[in-house]
Amino acid sequence: MGSGIAEVCARSGVDVTVIEVDPDRATASRAAIEKSLDRGVRGGHVSEEDRAAALDRLVFSTSLEDLEGADAAIEAIIEDETAKRDLFRKLVDLLPDAQFLASNTSSVPIMKLGAGTSQPHKVIGLHFFNPVPVLPLVEIVHSIMTADETAERAREFAEQTLGKQCIDSQDRAGFVVNALLIPYLLSAVRMYESGFASREDIDRGMVLGCAHPMGPLRLSDLIGLDTLLAVSESLYEEFRDPASVAPALLNRMVEAGLLGRKSGRGFYDYSKN
Ligand code: 3HC
Repeated sequence: MGSGIAEVCARSGVDVTVIEVDPDRATASRAAIEKSLDRGVRGGHVSEEDRAAALDRLVFSTSLEDLEGADAAIEAIIEDETAKRDLFRKLVDLLPDAQFLASNTSSVPIMKLGAGTSQPHKVIGLHFFNPVPVLPLVEIVHSIMTADETAERAREFAEQTLGKQCIDSQDRAGFVVNALLIPYLLSAVRMYESGFASREDIDRGMVLGCAHPMGPLRLSDLIGLDTLLAVSESLYEEFRDPASVAPALLNRMVEAGLLGRKSGRGFYDYSKN
């Protein structure tokens, strides 16, 4: 998701500094953005000049301090509350004049990210959708501590600078879209786990019968099974709805490192892609 967000920002004329955990990840992130831009060129959505200009606007680093002076930050690290809270404390200190400090989290309450910092009013959720260059939606998530001014600046950035379309959500687990989507995906995992139907038939059923662009197991692989698990846990913690309980198969797959597309295998095998 981070690469997709960085790509969309750079394509919109924004100078972007991408902070990755290590040089290998930085190289992989740049390669992913180049591949996606190439796809955009092939599809006629991006010109060769715009591709080159977008790449020129991207700087990759492994040092958070390189963000100094930035107007805003968008966090898209792993779905780990402790890691995110720690990062937001550092971001607030590093960027005291930032217009907004956003998280792309799918599962951690925005309030918790701002609460440990000296500027909780600057912290907001900007929740993008995968693949970010293709899907137009951004959910704007106000915590009970987010200032109206922060929300306006974040909305202006998402709508006017990035050209996205926004909906507003309260800071409730799953926000609007995942609160609806995740129980459906978990139902598909349970259906496959119980032998109700094959993974191909479950997916074909929803593609051919409901005109979804992809079936629920393929979509789970696209989202990442670790993310699916993290969101299901946060939904269950908040709403206690049995529909949000992760099936054992999902837990086992995540424990085994079968995370979907990003790890090369999930419900399907992507190792040859
Ligand atoms: N970068 C740039 N362009 C891309 C792209 C990428 N990564 N992937 C696809 N495209 C473009 C293609 O160029 C193509 O453009 P065209 O129609 O003008 O030629 C268009 O998107 C469609 O792509 P394809 O024809 O290759 O393939 P599909 O028609 O199967 O579309 C898909 C691929 C866009 C991924 C589509 O299957 C889809 O929309 N799937 C559902 C995705 C979804 O539901 N995402 C939400 C996940 S939930 C989430 O992210 C929230 C998180 O918190 C869990």
